[in-house]
Amino acid sequence: MFGRHRHDREGEALVEQLVTMWVRACEGASLVRVVDTVSGPTIIPPKIVDITLGPPTILVVELQPGMLPADVVDLAPRIAPHMDAWGLHVEPIGHRHVRVALLDSDPLTGTVPLLAGAGLHLGRDESGADLRIAPADLPHAVCQGVTRSGKSVWTYSLLAQLAHRPDALIAGCDPTGLLWRPLAGSRHADRLASGLVDPGAHEKVLAAVVAEMDDRIRDLPADRDTIAVSLGRPLLFVILEEYPGLLRVLDAAKTRGDDPGARVRALVSRLLAEGAKAGVRVVILAQRAEASVVGAFERAMCSLRISFRCDNRASVELLHPGAPPALADAHTAALPGIALVSRPGHPVARIRAPYIGGYPEFAAAVAA
Ligand SMILES: Nc1ncnc2c1ncn2[C@@H]1O[C@H](COP(=O)(O)OP(=O)(O)O)[C@@H](O)[C@H]1O
Ligand SMILES: [Mg+2]
Repeated sequence: MFGRHRHDREGEALVEQLVTMWVRACEGASLVRVVDTVSGPTIIPPKIVDITLGPPTILVVELQPGMLPADVVDLAPRIAPHMDAWGLHVEPIGHRHVRVALLDSDPLTGTVPLLAGAGLHLGRDESGADLRIAPADLPHAVCQGVTRSGKSVWTYSLLAQLAHRPDALIAGCDPTGLLWRPLAGSRHADRLASGLVDPGAHEKVLAAVVAEMDDRIRDLPADRDTIAVSLGRPLLFVILEEYPGLLRVLDAAKTRGDDPGARVRALVSRLLAEGAKAGVRVVILAQRAEASVVGAFERAMCSLRISFRCDNRASVELLHPGAPPALADAHTAALPGIALVSRPGHPVARIRAPYIGGYPEFAAAVAA
C-alpha cells in the first residue's frame, strides 16, 4: 500500500492501525469532503499516501478538493488525541499534500540557547527550525504576555544581539528602570530613557529619534524610497518596554493645557508610520496589547506580533486574529518562554524564545 517503505509484520499492523485511526479522527473532527451518491451522502477524509514510522511518525496526506493545509492545522487539536499524539505538526507539501508529524510530547519543553549567526535569533519552532530575521528585514514588532511569561527574557536576547552590531543602535523607553543599566556609557546611551523619576525624559528621547528620522527622510536621494543602512546610518531600534505603564504615568500627569501622553502616542505613531523607510524599527512591549495602548493603526504597522502566555483567548486574538481557537485557548497555559508568532506570509506558529539566562547573563552579554 505504501510503496516507499517496507514495514515488518509489526510495522504493517501499526500502519493499518494508524490509517484506521486517521479516518475515524478526521470523521470525528469533520475534516471530510461530503459527496452525494445514489445511496446517500458519502464522506471522504484526506487520504494517507505515505507513512514513515517514528518517532516521530510522519504521515503524508493528500487533501480532498476544497481543503486547505490550514484546515488540517485548525483541526489538529481535535485529531491529535485520536492518533495517540500530543499534537500534530502540519506542513504543506506543494498545493495538495501536507506532511503531518505525530508529536509524542511538546517539542518546545526544553530551553533553547541563544545562537550566534547573521540574522537575529528570535526563537525555535515546533519542527526545530530556528526563526531568524536579518535586522534590516525586521518589521516593527509588538510583543505581549502576562507577567512572568518571558517578555523581558526575549527582550534581553534581542538587546544582546543588537548591542554589539555596528549596523544597529538601540534607543527607547524603559519605565521599569533596569533594562538600560548594562548599556550605560555605551554608544547607545544617548537615546535611552529609564525609570519614572523624570517622565519627561521619555518624550525627549522619542522626540530626538523622530527628529533623526526626519533628517534621514529629508536626506533621501530623489531616486530612493528607503535609506541605505550603513555604519554611518545604522538601524535604529526603538524598544518601548512596558509601554502601557509609561502611558499610564503620562496620562495621570495630564492637565488642561498639557497632555504628555498624547504627545508620546503621536511620536510613536510617527515612528511606526514613517520609520521603516528611514531605518527605524519600533518594538512595543506590553502585558496586553489592548486598544487603548496599541490602537488599530499601531497594530497594523507592527507586522511581527509575538504573544507569550495570555490571560484568555480574546487577548491572543488582539494580535493573532484568525488563530485557531484551540491554539489560542491552549496558549493561556503556555510555559514561560513559549510564544505565538505571526508575521507576513506565515501561519501563526508556536515558538520557544531563546534563553540567554537571567539578568546577570544579559548584563554580561551586553557589556562584553
Ligand atoms: N525563553 C525562556 N526559556 C526558559 N525560561 C524562560 C524563558 N523566558 C522566561 N523564562 C523564565 O520565566 C521567568 C520570567 O520571565 P520574564 O521574561 O521576566 O517575564 P516577563 O518579562 O514577561 O514578566 C524568567 O525568570 C525565566 O525563569
Ligand atoms: Mg518583564
